[in-house]
Amino acid sequence: MALIKAPRGTNDVLPSDSYKWRYVEAVADKTALSAGYKEVRFPTFEETELFARGVGDTTDIVQKEMYTFDDKGGRSMTLRPEGTASAVRLSLENGLLGGALPLKLYYKINVFRYDKPQAGRYREFNQFGMELYGAQSPFADAELIEMAQMFLKNLGINGVYLKINSIGCPVCRARYQEALKEFFASRETELCETCKGRLQRNPMRILDCKSPVCQKIAEDAPKITDFLCDECETHYAAVKNALTAIGTKFEEDPGLVRGLDYYTKTVFELIDEKTGLAVAAGGRYDGLIEELGGKHTPAVGFASGIERLFPLIPDFGTDPVADIYIASMGDNAAQKAFTIADGLRKNGINVETDLMARSVKAQMKYADKIGARYTMVLGDSELETGSADLRNMALGEASKIDISDIEALTTILRS
Ligand code: HAM
Repeated sequence: MALIKAPRGTNDVLPSDSYKWRYVEAVADKTALSAGYKEVRFPTFEETELFARGVGDTTDIVQKEMYTFDDKGGRSMTLRPEGTASAVRLSLENGLLGGALPLKLYYKINVFRYDKPQAGRYREFNQFGMELYGAQSPFADAELIEMAQMFLKNLGINGVYLKINSIGCPVCRARYQEALKEFFASRETELCETCKGRLQRNPMRILDCKSPVCQKIAEDAPKITDFLCDECETHYAAVKNALTAIGTKFEEDPGLVRGLDYYTKTVFELIDEKTGLAVAAGGRYDGLIEELGGKHTPAVGFASGIERLFPLIPDFGTDPVADIYIASMGDNAAQKAFTIADGLRKNGINVETDLMARSVKAQMKYADKIGARYTMVLGDSELETGSADLRNMALGEASKIDISDIEALTTILRS
């Protein structure tokens, strides 16, 4: 019978690689906790309206990439394509914004986008995200940019550069949208079909189009930075000053508009020099909380795509190996091995024993394969004398131990 394969654009994590995920997740926790961000977990699926209103219904994500289905009660649900809208929903629903501000949250989630699978672009992928609510200060924007960079630094990643831009507020953006409409209308016949539809509804999306023709046209389009109002201009300058003061290098890119509708003012991306892919991205979104039913509350955040980081991480540490493999010959010895293993595991020692009634030779081959630090063989004579040889596999040396003294054995194995 033909084997069933994983869906296109998804990834399995194999036993040989799962420690790498634990490593990245531990670094994510450490980075976020170091600045007072607390972890949240929210459902894998939400009402479709959350993303239509939150992410924006003119975005590629909402128009083309969502995994949307009707549940058995006929309600439209969507597998989360990102975490920002859900984190806001969680905060509003649980009254978190009525507590101490700023509210600082982080999450490690899998997200789903029906995108064209290719290197670094998956249909299910993982994000580490951090969000900050309640702070209008440009230092909040700078803190989030810094946290994204700190996360990469803590993973030992180099070869990534920072791109920033300001896309203004609804007031200055409205003027900019008009200028863009005028510009693109003069080239309308050349635009791709999707961008023709974007022209009236959200011309800024055209700047983000992947079609080479639209990209070429967009090069000559008016720049948002020429339209910023005084407040947005001042805010942007202060963010850049805050970054410069701590020695953070950045590239200003007036074409950086991001693929989600909720952004206001600062937007940024961290780009892998080799592939040109964003490994983390985010920005300020002062209107989203209100859009989702809350009070006007400034907000800023970012998310990093974990799969894209993997090729850039120089050292994941190691997977824990068995501290000891206890081999046995015969049923009585197997029972003793099982009892010792249980006692050692209760003391936190990593132990394996034979579960397949194999020959001692086969058991030792297995112990070697799993890289056990110590081995011990139990047979009739060991049961009779109550002592066995404990072999340090790296040194090849053995010493006699008392097989009923679990505490003494634990002390040796902990060292
Ligand atoms: P985003 O730019 O859509 O932003 O995604 C964030 C990161 O997820 C990207 O920079 C990239 O590393 C990764 N990513 C995106 N698409 C894929 C894909 N198909 N395959 C693999 N990795 C991918 C957001 O999701 C916003 N919620 C970020 C944010 C948080 N803004 C404010 N707060």
